[in-house]
Amino acid sequence: MSKLSIIIHPDPRLKKVASPITNITDRIKQLSADMLEAMYEASGVGLAAPQVGITKRLVVMDCSNEGEKKELILINPEIVWSSEENASFEEGCLSIPDVREEISRPLSVQVQFIGIDNTRREEFFNGLWATCIQHEIDHLNGKLFIDYLGPMKRSSITRKMIKLKKQLNRKK
Ligand code: NI
Repeated sequence: MSKLSIIIHPDPRLKKVASPITNITDRIKQLSADMLEAMYEASGVGLAAPQVGITKRLVVMDCSNEGEKKELILINPEIVWSSEENASFEEGCLSIPDVREEISRPLSVQVQFIGIDNTRREEFFNGLWATCIQHEIDHLNGKLFIDYLGPMKRSSITRKMIKLKKQLNRKK
């Protein structure tokens, strides 16, 4: 089992703005590897450090469907361009298990980030990858995908998660 446990909404740690990483230490490298492991184990396509209780601007993702893994580690990712055209995808989140909702976001984005090898990089994302990176960057800013929903729907999901957390605690 993965060393990291994923925080379930609602939790104040998911609402914080994460701070930039200034130094890619061995701890950060280990954390990225552990986050990838936790993400694959939970069958997720993306995970942001705040979801494992680390308030740093670090994201891992892999939206390749089947077959070859295409994992990406993004440090201090920043959207530098987004398309005017939007696209809707059914989004889910490892911090909000078993909930899926259609969310509309820009179809494509250009993202600047630092790679785990400490190089400055820029990448163009489209479709599901674009949705995923925008969703993960939102996590770094304390924002969840359910924040795009209306207040009624959002609070009903939150109540469901509170119930789920009680059940999970009982099992421990
Ligand atoms: Ni998420």
